[in-house]
Amino acid sequence: MTTTTHDIAELVDLDRYPVTDLETPQARALVARGRERLDSTGLCSLPGFLRPGIAARLAAEATALVPCAHRQDHEDIAYGRHRANLDSFPPDHPVRHTSPFRMNLVSYDDLPSGGGIKRIYHWDGLTRLIGALTGNATLHRTADPLLSCNISVLHPGDTHGWHVDGNDFSVTLLLQEPESGGRFEYAPVASPQDENFGTIADIYRGEREHVVTPDLKAGMLSIFRGRWSLHHVTPVEGAVTRLQVIFSYHVEPGMVFPEATRRNYLGRAA
Ligand SMILES: [Fe+2]
Repeated sequence: MTTTTHDIAELVDLDRYPVTDLETPQARALVARGRERLDSTGLCSLPGFLRPGIAARLAAEATALVPCAHRQDHEDIAYGRHRANLDSFPPDHPVRHTSPFRMNLVSYDDLPSGGGIKRIYHWDGLTRLIGALTGNATLHRTADPLLSCNISVLHPGDTHGWHVDGNDFSVTLLLQEPESGGRFEYAPVASPQDENFGTIADIYRGEREHVVTPDLKAGMLSIFRGRWSLHHVTPVEGAVTRLQVIFSYHVEPGMVFPEATRRNYLGRAA
C-alpha cells in the first residue's frame, strides 16, 4: 500500500510544506532549514504539518484504538545500551538510575488499513522528506509487523520515563496535547565521544540548565536525534490523553526490530 500525493493532500498541509518535489527551491530551502535545526538542536519540528482539523480527526481515530493498546507500568533504566554491563557501574552511577514508564502503545497491526494514520505513514513523500532531513540518500519504512508505526497513548498520570534511544532518530506526529503536563523534555548533552554522565547526574538531581522543553503542538511533525539526548515525557495532568504517532524508518529495506523489543513494548512478538 502506498498513498498518492492526491490522497495525502487532504491530510498534510502541502501549501505550507510543498515537499512533493524536493528539488524545487522552496523545498530545498525548507529541508536546509530543517537540517540546520536538527544538527544544532537535535530536534526539527514542523508546526501545522497536518492541515487544520486533521489532528483532531486522527486523534478520534487513535482514541477508538486505545482499548487495543498494550500497557507497561514499571521502573526502568535509561540506558538500554548499558543494560548488559550494568554491574560494572558503581551503585550511584546515572546508568543505574530508574524512572517510571507508565504508558500504552497501539501496534501497527491494529491500525485500520484505510485510516489516516496508516495513509500518512505509507506516503513515500514523507519517507523522502525524512531521508532528506536526516541526510540519508535512501530511507525505507521499516517492515516490522508490530512496531513500524505505532500510537503512544499517555493517560492522565502516565509518563514516559527518562531514556536514550537505540536508533539514530525518531519521527513523531503529535495528535492530541494534554491539558497540562505531558511535556517532552530533552537534554542534548552527550555525544558518541562523551556520554557526559556528570551532567546527566545533575539532571537527575533536578538541574534544569541543560533541559530543553519544546512547545510541541497537535499537528506538528518532529524529527528527533535521541541516541545522545536523554529525554522523557513528564506526567500527563488534567483529563485529556496525550496521543502521539511514531513512524519508524531504516536505511536498509525490510528492517524488523528484535523480538525482545516487540515483547518489551507490546507484550507479544507476533
Ligand atoms: Fe525516545
